Amino acid sequence: MSDKIETVQVAGAHLEVSWTGNGQLSRYPAVWLRDHCHAARSMNQSSHQRSVDTFSIPETLAPAAVRMDAETVFVTWPGEAEESVYPVSFLQDMAEPGLWTEDRPKSLWMAADIEETLPEVPHAAVMKEDGDGLAEWLELVDRHGFALVTGVPATPEATEELLKRVGYIRQTIFGGFWDFTANKAFADTAYSTVEIGPHTDGTYAIDSPGYQAFHCLEFDGTGGESIFVDAFKVAEVIREQDPEAFEVLASVPVPAQYKGDGVHLMAENPVIGLDRDGGLRKITYNNYDRAPFRLEDSRQAAFYRSLGLFNRLINDPAYQLRFGLRPGTVVLFDNWRVLHAREAYEGHRRLCGAYHNKEDVLSKLRLLHNRG
Ligand code: OGA
Ligand code: ZN
Repeated sequence: MSDKIETVQVAGAHLEVSWTGNGQLSRYPAVWLRDHCHAARSMNQSSHQRSVDTFSIPETLAPAAVRMDAETVFVTWPGEAEESVYPVSFLQDMAEPGLWTEDRPKSLWMAADIEETLPEVPHAAVMKEDGDGLAEWLELVDRHGFALVTGVPATPEATEELLKRVGYIRQTIFGGFWDFTANKAFADTAYSTVEIGPHTDGTYAIDSPGYQAFHCLEFDGTGGESIFVDAFKVAEVIREQDPEAFEVLASVPVPAQYKGDGVHLMAENPVIGLDRDGGLRKITYNNYDRAPFRLEDSRQAAFYRSLGLFNRLINDPAYQLRFGLRPGTVVLFDNWRVLHAREAYEGHRRLCGAYHNKEDVLSKLRLLHNRG
């Protein structure tokens, strides 16, 4: 699609645009056009909020006249003194009917695909005002599901400052930015030294955290390596090799709970959450936190079989990226895609980190992408 208009004309209740180059035609209906007018009387120029009264637009509306210059198309409506205004770039974005989509390609991985060169950006670059380093970090996280920042001062203050560049930090039962060592005062295994198998966090949250960050500030002991698994990769392998298991994992809503520490949080999600086109949207898996529920016998058996397959793959070393979190390196990962796990450890370990909401990080990514 070219970005220049060859001709524009009124065609009944439509505006017809022909694009230069291949002469492709776009036909915009009048009601939709009036609803999307970019003029100040129809759209707040600073907030971009719609101010036109959508519901007083007559269904039978048709454009009275049209003209254009290099950047803008102007439409006159019967009985309206002022023209409506449409940037050519907007008409180009809307050239084909279709639901809202964003193209953010992912590269799915197994351990061998990524362990030689982990996606990483130096701290100094991420903290620079120009935003290039931050954009690079978040783009790597978006593509691979995780990325590291190296050379971060091993203090909670520097870590929190870094993570606040990503977006505001989410408040949960654990607080906002957290910083702890093993602590028996809490019910959750998070505060223990035992092995924690691959999982996503917040399966009991209706809107589970989109991203999580870890920084191991102090480590003096043995074990405790971290494991990351690209569960989008695992899900695609299951889709390919065992469609029946995929169907079960994508459709049985699994309840989860956090019961203790003065709360009883509950939510349900399928293990493999799909978007409207059948693409992967959100993985939700924490076998420790699964709440009781019971299916019909045959579905129950299929559920255990399918969950067993998922569990076998995420524990297969071929899918497990394994490395020790060490002071100075922050990992930010997509909690809707990448599972994390921790081996048992002995000794002293101090970990800090935070959660971010999905939309806040994507917002930052969009702003950085569209800057200048
Ligand atoms: C958790 C967890 C990871 C770690 O508590 O949910 O994943 O490295 N901890 O301690
Ligand atoms: Zn966790």
